[in-house]
Amino acid sequence: MTDRPLVFIGLPGSGKSAVAEQLGLALGRPVISIDQLVVDRVGMSIADLFVAEGEQEFRRLETELLNEVMNNHPNSIVDGGGGLVVGRENRRIIREQAVAVWLDAPNQTLLDRMASFGSRPLLTDNPSDSIAELRRSRLVHYTTVADAIVQTAGKTVDEVVSLVTERLQQLDGDQSETGFCRKGFRTEQVELADGRTYPVVIGRGATAKLSDLLPESAKRVAVITQAGIGVTVASGRDQKVFTVEDGEQAKRLDVVGKLCSEMASWGMTRSDVVVSVGGGVVSDLAGFVAASYHRGIPVVHVSTTLLGQIDAAIGGKCGVNLPEGKNLVGAFWQPAAVICDTETLETLPAREFVSGMGELAKYHFLGGGDLAAANLDERVARSVRIKADVVGGDEREGGRRAILNYGHTLAHALETAGGYELRHGEAVGIGLVYAAEVARRLGRVDQAAVELHRAVVQGYGLDPTVPTGFDHEKLVDLFGRDKKAITGITFVLDGPSGVEPVLVEDRQLLLDAFEAVSA
Ligand SMILES: NC(=O)c1ccc[n+]([C@@H]2O[C@H](COP(=O)([O-])OP(=O)(O)OC[C@H]3O[C@@H](n4cnc5c(N)ncnc54)[C@H](O)[C@@H]3O)[C@@H](O)[C@H]2O)c1
Repeated sequence: MTDRPLVFIGLPGSGKSAVAEQLGLALGRPVISIDQLVVDRVGMSIADLFVAEGEQEFRRLETELLNEVMNNHPNSIVDGGGGLVVGRENRRIIREQAVAVWLDAPNQTLLDRMASFGSRPLLTDNPSDSIAELRRSRLVHYTTVADAIVQTAGKTVDEVVSLVTERLQQLDGDQSETGFCRKGFRTEQVELADGRTYPVVIGRGATAKLSDLLPESAKRVAVITQAGIGVTVASGRDQKVFTVEDGEQAKRLDVVGKLCSEMASWGMTRSDVVVSVGGGVVSDLAGFVAASYHRGIPVVHVSTTLLGQIDAAIGGKCGVNLPEGKNLVGAFWQPAAVICDTETLETLPAREFVSGMGELAKYHFLGGGDLAAANLDERVARSVRIKADVVGGDEREGGRRAILNYGHTLAHALETAGGYELRHGEAVGIGLVYAAEVARRLGRVDQAAVELHRAVVQGYGLDPTVPTGFDHEKLVDLFGRDKKAITGITFVLDGPSGVEPVLVEDRQLLLDAFEAVSA
């Protein structure tokens, strides 16, 4: 068993106190509650402290006491308060000095448990909305800090304690380069039908592997990135950074032309390499620059968003937008390697992180297994594996690759009709639940499968309902637009043989299914 302090993190009601207490008894280790230490230090309840001195003072004390515990009680089991991960310094301390176990449960379970606890700071008159908002805002922190995640709904404290013990033993045993030890990397290979392969290196700090992954021939490295990303790379070669603007507008043909000109002026040859450092916008743009320059030079993606790591950077699709539409000019240009450095996700804005969760939710239903119980590195690795397998068998989207569009038919319609107000993954989360509702109406899945879709999407902090103001008739019109549908719409739907493309001809059924996903 690990010899670092063990810190339980999670939303209020997740069972941190009871599980810490029980595990402490089982292991004979001291159990320390940071909240209780704060109460002892100030001589008043946390609720009173919030009123008297404000949340900031509470957070300051929390950090001070966490530090003391790490330094003075290395053998302890720590019941971190629900908001412990909010503080950047707390997250750093936990990552560097402790092992963090995230206890989680669906929002309703948390609310039911809390009902018997009395009031808690931060939860107000609308508990349902408050807990959903807390989840959304903290998800990036819980996910990037947790070494292990244990789902607690429907389990007794003893069962949770056994699961925690099991996970900790796995962490202890897994110290290899290929495993999930705290600083290890895991490599997934993308293997294309014609024999080309490339590695996807996953793990905290994997960016350090960049120089090993560059083609030997490359003397110059053009790093394409955005100002706000803040991830620097050391290629060990002659390196020049090209910064493009933030957002979708960076994916323009004139930006491609400008970058190619600057690379030519710098003297880049066809044996040199492009390195993208950023999310899907940067990898789409840089991939297309690499595909075009000298009719194609190698590109390595250092992906820094969750959506990028589990989707956009893998599979070789790249391109830019035209005023007439998104991604209308592009290429299939496979990278020489991809780096998914999960440490870079720590600085992602909460909304961007949750948006990536929409794509992660998709992988649940494409064979990802119990991703909810996997830690971040595992989640990324398993998603990459699924995408790599699908892309390997169908590089140019002639058939099976279409299943990667699960949840995307409604998602694209929502994005288009809503003027891209919703982030892509937010729209995918709604689209997944809607697709399950359509599948149920077609008799392909039962109500339990629909509820599972809803629970997975909500568990990732996403709202599975179509925001008000959307015209359902217009959304259904948009479903068919790209496909030039005459007799029906090809939907990707769950069913007895798993997720697959299905022709849906009943427009009324598609309209009716909105009832179940409307606020
Ligand atoms: N090629 C494919 O297969 C594929 C698949 C899915 C999506 N995409 C494309 O991906 C794009 C969306 O990608 P995205 O969701 O990653 O958005 P994005 O690239 O716009 O990144 C989101 C925001 O996060 C910032 N950011 C990135 N990394 C950060 C970090 N580590 N810390 C702090 N901020 C950071 C970015 O600067 C940006 O403001 C779309 O253009 C979409 O078309 C492509």
